[in-house]
Amino acid sequence: MIVANWKMNPATYAAAERLTAAVKKIPAGRTEVVICPPLVWLTDFSHKESEIKFGAQDIFWENPTGPFTGQVSAQMLTEAKVKYVIIGHSERRILVGETDAMVNKKMRAAALARLKPILCVGEDRAVRRQGLAAAKKFVAGQLKKDLVGIGRAYPLIVAYEPIWAIGGGKADTPTTAAEMAWYIKKLRPRARVLYGGSVNSQNARNFLQLKEIDGALVGGASLKPAEFEKIITAANQ
Ligand code: PGA
Repeated sequence: MIVANWKMNPATYAAAERLTAAVKKIPAGRTEVVICPPLVWLTDFSHKESEIKFGAQDIFWENPTGPFTGQVSAQMLTEAKVKYVIIGHSERRILVGETDAMVNKKMRAAALARLKPILCVGEDRAVRRQGLAAAKKFVAGQLKKDLVGIGRAYPLIVAYEPIWAIGGGKADTPTTAAEMAWYIKKLRPRARVLYGGSVNSQNARNFLQLKEIDGALVGGASLKPAEFEKIITAANQ
């Protein structure tokens, strides 16, 4: 599974349309490809395009309607043929102060509405400096809090994204990412685990060939069709 997180990009509708058209041309093979454009264009594309699966980058926890200025509900997204939603991305946790309690409410709202949540977890640099055991403990704590009320049988998608690796910096090592994926699956045996954090056409294969890793959440590289195509090719190998 390869998920494109466009974040707050590109700058114009025309560019977003070109990007969507380019992704549509990439042979997906046996890979599940999901693109998550900014909300302002998402539902326009999801209504029009049936060949690509779409995801939102966030939702609100109340559903389906109500006095919640600026928010969008899970039901509004499913009605617009959106199938997935990224929840708890570190940029939301850090920049808009999203807590584990909020992430949990969003997870529950998505699951109830049959929107497939992609839950993002991952430690920051200070935690990783203390070692992998500390990072595992941190991630286990996030999962515990974020998944209150979500049963162990729920077919979860977790994106392990060490915060320090996000944003075109240095990716984690594939072996460490695989070890974390294995650890997450021990806690949640039905989870699919994606790796995210500076995945590009050069390193994608190193992550995706490992059996513990079921896919990637791709930020920057998903905005370049040629790069993104190589990542999907790597997933199919
Ligand atoms: P990146 O972003 O691929 O640009 O590091 C990944 C993410 O934040 O999901």
